[in-house]
Amino acid sequence: MTIRPYDVIIIGSGAAGLTAAINLAQDKRVLVLAKGALDGGSTNWAQGGIAAVLDAGDSFESHVEDTMIAGGGLNDRATVEFVVSEAPAAIERLAALGVPFNASEGNASEDRGGAAFGERWHLTREGGHSHRRIVHVDDATGAAVQQALVKAAEANPNITLMPDMVAVDLITSRHAERYSGDGHVWGVYAFNRKTKHVDAFIGRATILATGGAGRAYLFSTAPRGATGDGIAMAWRAGCRVSNMEMNQFHPTCLYNLEVKNFLITEAVRGEGGLLKLPPGAPNGGKRFMDRHDKRGELAPRDVVARAIDHEIKRLGLDYVHLDISHKGEAFVKEHFPTIYARLLDLDIDITKEPIPVVPAQHYTCGGVIIDLDGRTDLPGLYAAGEVSESGLHGANRLASNSLLECFVFGEAAARHIRAHWDELPAPPAIKPWDESRVTDSDEEVIVQHNWKEIRRFMWDYVGIVRTTKRLERAKHRIDLLASEVDEYYGNFRVTPDLIELRNLVDVARLIIRSALKRHESRGLHYTLDYPEMLPKAEDTVLAP
Ligand code: FAD
Ligand code: SIN
Repeated sequence: MTIRPYDVIIIGSGAAGLTAAINLAQDKRVLVLAKGALDGGSTNWAQGGIAAVLDAGDSFESHVEDTMIAGGGLNDRATVEFVVSEAPAAIERLAALGVPFNASEGNASEDRGGAAFGERWHLTREGGHSHRRIVHVDDATGAAVQQALVKAAEANPNITLMPDMVAVDLITSRHAERYSGDGHVWGVYAFNRKTKHVDAFIGRATILATGGAGRAYLFSTAPRGATGDGIAMAWRAGCRVSNMEMNQFHPTCLYNLEVKNFLITEAVRGEGGLLKLPPGAPNGGKRFMDRHDKRGELAPRDVVARAIDHEIKRLGLDYVHLDISHKGEAFVKEHFPTIYARLLDLDIDITKEPIPVVPAQHYTCGGVIIDLDGRTDLPGLYAAGEVSESGLHGANRLASNSLLECFVFGEAAARHIRAHWDELPAPPAIKPWDESRVTDSDEEVIVQHNWKEIRRFMWDYVGIVRTTKRLERAKHRIDLLASEVDEYYGNFRVTPDLIELRNLVDVARLIIRSALKRHESRGLHYTLDYPEMLPKAEDTVLAP
């Protein structure tokens, strides 16, 4: 095993990880690990855009209020205010890196008498926002952001980018040759897909930027690698996690038997798309959202996802329809070129016909608890982005606030590390990875079976509408699987699939435990046994 020293180790090369890396690289040597390709995380898949107050008619107060309302009051107001106020500067930094945000369609500043800052960009609208405030690059914002960040990181001699390295566990004081017991984190052990060995990467500070855990569910808009690795590693190392029951289901994922996880951005509804019952159903072709919420198609995500789930179950449907065809061919092609082209490949012409959609898991609101500097409970360990629970999203994330959180906390963590560099002790001598487990599993297929089983029962029992009985059923299954996977992990050589399965088990367990702890319905956690919201909003905090 090789032990490689850097100043700072960043696990994850999405929006959060690369933002931190670019800031740190001003004067630190930074290593960025990704478990597959550098653009393999959710960032690259983001469609709608990034929320920020950039229009003279909008205000920080309004963005804060919209975030708190969507979040069911569980948000931490200080965090929300911090992120919202940092947003315009974050967008400016991205523009400076070359992200080609769509320009304003009209000359908004002149219409309003001139000079309002930020009005150079087109702002789209999404559910829960009371203003147009989403900057975007067509309907493929994430890919443009990811590209710009990778380009900047590649050009920086202080940043080493290492794809195909699967982090296994954090290196803590337990792994030091001389145990110090203070829980300090010194880096990470990671499995190298090329050499098939585990290496150690050490530094004074470590940032978790590993994204979410969407793949704990059968249907998710998230990429294959969203297995909650960072949350599980932090938990095992001794960090608290919070609000893990708050899993966001996006209302409109394409329903297609071949393509199972293609998102239809909320901006389609923001720009006038309508949800309708499909032909053949009673009231086929008619809208239904107005029966569920007066905000109609632009109600927050939890409300729209539950409404669709209700209609699908009530009428025994496979999907509902999302229709933007009434806006005309030119408008649709101009605003949604990626979705138009992708669906045309599947023989759906969205300029002429509606899109079949279903809700699917989309975002992990809970995660590793951090403060406003991105610090976790453990000295030397920071977290940013979807892996973390900063207090921004509360019980339900407001659309397009997630990329924003990555930029703000990636930057905040980097700033804190640089400002406190001299207080961060240098890493001690580290024990090598235990290579005694040399046996290759003869039953790799078990890993696949267990993985499928988890995702299936999480979908069936810990989904959009929950009951205590279903949650207890899920708990029983996950406890059994946990001991099976533990034994398996202890006996065989690690592989990327086994590493992910172990993490999925930990994360699914945290979600189920948290869901059982919350005796109310709030935001994304809706249970038939406790349908009311309690007067006081309280985080579900789990401590190892
Ligand atoms: P990611 O971008 O997911 O990156 C995670 C990184 O961690 C990857 O590099 C991965 O390789 C690495 N990693 C993970 N585990 C390991 C490991 N064990 N070892 C080494 N590396 C590891 N949000 C918005 O605000 N606006 C949008 O328009 C929007 N659209 C979305 C559309 C889709 C389809 C999806 C799925 C999400 C969308 N979101 C959107 C949410 C947003 O994209 C994500 O929350 C955000 O990109 C997460 O960024 P991140 O940096 O935290 O993690
Ligand atoms: C979308 O484009 O609908 C996704 C936006 C988000 O997840 O914030």
